[in-house]
Amino acid sequence: MTVDKWWKTAVVYQIYPRSFQDFNGDGIGDIQGIISRLDYLEELGIDVIWLGPIYKSPMDDNGYDISDYTDISPDFGTMTDFDELLAEAGKRKIKIVMDLVVNHTSDEHNWFKQALKSKDNPYRDYYIWRDPINDSEPNDLKASFGGSAWEYEPNSGQYFLHLYSKRQPDLNWENPTVRKEIWKMMNFWLAKGIGGFRLDVIDHIGKDPDKKIVQNGPKLHEYIQEMNRNTFGKYDVLTVGETWGATPEEGIKYSSPARNELSMIFQFEHILLDQQSDDSKWDLKKIDLLDLKRVLAKWQIEMKDEGWNSLFWNNHDTPRIVSRWGNDETFRVESAKMFAILLHMMKGTPYIYQGEEIGMTNRVLSSFDELNDIESINIATALRNEGWQDEKIFQAINAKGRDNARTPMQWNADMHAGFSTVSPWLPVNPNKEWINVQEERNKEDSIFNCYKKLIKIRKNNPIIVVGEFKLLLEDDPFVFAYERNLADETWVVVANFSSADQEVSVWDDTDIYTPILANYGDRNYRLDDLKLRPYETIVIKK
Ligand code: NOJ
Repeated sequence: MTVDKWWKTAVVYQIYPRSFQDFNGDGIGDIQGIISRLDYLEELGIDVIWLGPIYKSPMDDNGYDISDYTDISPDFGTMTDFDELLAEAGKRKIKIVMDLVVNHTSDEHNWFKQALKSKDNPYRDYYIWRDPINDSEPNDLKASFGGSAWEYEPNSGQYFLHLYSKRQPDLNWENPTVRKEIWKMMNFWLAKGIGGFRLDVIDHIGKDPDKKIVQNGPKLHEYIQEMNRNTFGKYDVLTVGETWGATPEEGIKYSSPARNELSMIFQFEHILLDQQSDDSKWDLKKIDLLDLKRVLAKWQIEMKDEGWNSLFWNNHDTPRIVSRWGNDETFRVESAKMFAILLHMMKGTPYIYQGEEIGMTNRVLSSFDELNDIESINIATALRNEGWQDEKIFQAINAKGRDNARTPMQWNADMHAGFSTVSPWLPVNPNKEWINVQEERNKEDSIFNCYKKLIKIRKNNPIIVVGEFKLLLEDDPFVFAYERNLADETWVVVANFSSADQEVSVWDDTDIYTPILANYGDRNYRLDDLKLRPYETIVIKK
């Protein structure tokens, strides 16, 4: 196996623009802020920025509700700022991957405003309309942010479909004119020289709402292939599809080069393991390491050499991993590094979510007026109506809510963490006093420096990119260990996924192997008799 695509060796850094860096002093992150931090990203060593949506939007869902696909929200700046970002990033060999949100638009998009005018308006069929059935919703499809996925529109007496908030009407992909409009818009961005697209909830397109099929619908792959042919297929770019419910078999369909669809997928099977069932995000369950190992190993192996996967622990929709499955108090540094090493030594393209590289944590909320995210607000209200006690509601929201990952980036210990000169749109986590970029950059053994090393190691060692993966100690409930193999080279990663010491034997020979990286400082290791301290993680070469 050789590395045939640049994005297989690349490391992606996700920026949530609202929370990364405020430059103009309005408490909201912006494009000039990002430009001012490009040197930092270059120092970290990343190759690609996945830029969250910066388009014009009423911000009902922080930009995932777009009212103009070819204009920039004044919250973030102007098109001139964007062009400058592209040029400045390019100088540092960093590519910009845009967030493409085309399952739905904002209800303030001109297409929807036109569609509302009358049933025979040419834009009506850009969206999905149905007559009532028995004076009620066409069926019981639910929206991700709570309630029915159908919203009644009184002037026409019809319902329109919205899989997210009612201010995010779903586009009708069956309509060829809609598809052409989207290709045109994508080509507008590609012509500027962007590095690709992250395709928001792309598994919804091709849906059949009448049969209640909203994921992996019958036309999904046909539409993606058509998109590839008409847009990015002509460019050497990275495309990554957000595919919540994909299986490895589906993953291969999306990303096998022979099928001309996407570069890779971004799937969540491992992330859904700490809930009672697939559709019960707020019903908490403790993570079981055996499940986690099984799922991650399955994806490593079953994508074979045909499909390509993203590697990630967190993003703007999920809690911070160090708080979620690590220990963000006593062993924050050790567990943050453990997660980094475990992930970055696997096969796939790693994604770092802003702040993860300095071990940022969840921020604990305790009252309704602290909630900002539309999903948390809706769910808290719904759970209260279902009779949940506030204590249990906040336990769930503090564990899973999306505001956790969206607190401003902690650059230094100043009043607003160096993020802004004024009070930010979402409060800074008070632990910015000791968790911040300035501190991390200064310390040789910091989490930041661990990420830096991992990125460098990946670039110089194809074994990480394309080597075979083998899970070790499958039944050990506390230790996560695996092997990577390429030609006659073998690397082993062993991690203590717990706050207690663990003793293991990985192999039964008594040799000492070459250490590559460890989170407790370098030392030599014998793999027949390992004593691992809390979250201790080592990578060695045979
Ligand atoms: C997935 C995005 O990551 C999330 O933030 C958004 O709310 C939904 N898609 C709807 O666009």
